[in-house]
Amino acid sequence: MRLAISTGGGDAPGLNAVIRAAVLSAIDRGWHVLGVKKGYAGLLGDDEVVPLTREEVRGIGHLGGTILRTTNRGDPFNYPLKQPDGATKIVDRSDELLENARNLGIDAFIAIGGDGSLAIAHKLAQKGARVVGVPKTIDNDVSGTITSFGFDTAVNTAMEAIDKLHTTAESHDRVIVLEVMGRHAGFIALHSGVAGAAHVILIPEIPYDIDKLCAAIMAREKRGRHFDIVVAAEGAFPIGGEESVLGESMPGQSRRVGGVADLVAKQIQARTAKECRSLVLGHLQRGGMPTGYDRLLATRFGSAAVQAVEDGKWGQMVALHSPNIVTVPIELALREPKRVDLAHDLVSAARRLGISFGD
Ligand code: F6P
Repeated sequence: MRLAISTGGGDAPGLNAVIRAAVLSAIDRGWHVLGVKKGYAGLLGDDEVVPLTREEVRGIGHLGGTILRTTNRGDPFNYPLKQPDGATKIVDRSDELLENARNLGIDAFIAIGGDGSLAIAHKLAQKGARVVGVPKTIDNDVSGTITSFGFDTAVNTAMEAIDKLHTTAESHDRVIVLEVMGRHAGFIALHSGVAGAAHVILIPEIPYDIDKLCAAIMAREKRGRHFDIVVAAEGAFPIGGEESVLGESMPGQSRRVGGVADLVAKQIQARTAKECRSLVLGHLQRGGMPTGYDRLLATRFGSAAVQAVEDGKWGQMVALHSPNIVTVPIELALREPKRVDLAHDLVSAARRLGISFGD
């Protein structure tokens, strides 16, 4: 068996632990492993395909990022190709990719990625490629698995930021609005906000009313609590409004969500006369060492993915269905994105603790 591993989309803490576990589990079976660099670019002549041996994966399990590097502009079905006149044309290079894989003797792929990369893996499987997926996202927005690796690390990073903001906000009687990642899902904001004892949490699943949000802040003021921590998911938006966007990250790409913290901070200051500050935590949430939880989940996923290859579970992805790691069809996971379930006990617990969702 000659197995190829690729990492696609935004990086997430734990990618290297998956790679390490998959490589060691494959070597244990006497298989050969190749690493496709930068999404699938390595198989399209825009980067390399390298052997992954014990040596390459030694001492990487605790490191953030990915030794294979990654991209969110490498969809082989919609591949950006520079034209001689400098313009970029989008072309389907999936046949070329599969042909190059065959020439390298690749029998199967392990594709590690979020919804975008899993959609690519699904399309490659439909074309006959033997692919097993591994769900990765700090946003926790991939369905079919209780969680993905990277999320716990991001939550801890955000929680530590909230802890630090408490002391400065309290010292100055300020409202500090912290914007955390998550795209259109509010998991990072909800989990870090509750763990960090924020006073207001704004998530896309609960559109906020700025007047109710300010009323919550003024109610605390009346109780003699003169500071507030507001945690806003980057995709949060007001009732009847839209999420804030920063524009395209690169020409032709999807819009980047963000800017809500600044907007909300200005509105709170204008309505309550309290001094406000805002902060965007940004890519700090994607960096650094994975937590113990994420290292373990990533290791289990990497090992289970190799087992799935051995079992011929093509077109499936490994998933956490506590306490077990199972496989589910990638198609099922892609059917609808995962969002915060408003009936979840964490939402009701937060409300009972007095946390406002601005609704
Ligand atoms: O999906 C992961 C994520 O970090 C989102 O939370 C965020 O909106 C986006 O990626 C940022 O993407 P980029 O790294 O392209 O700025």
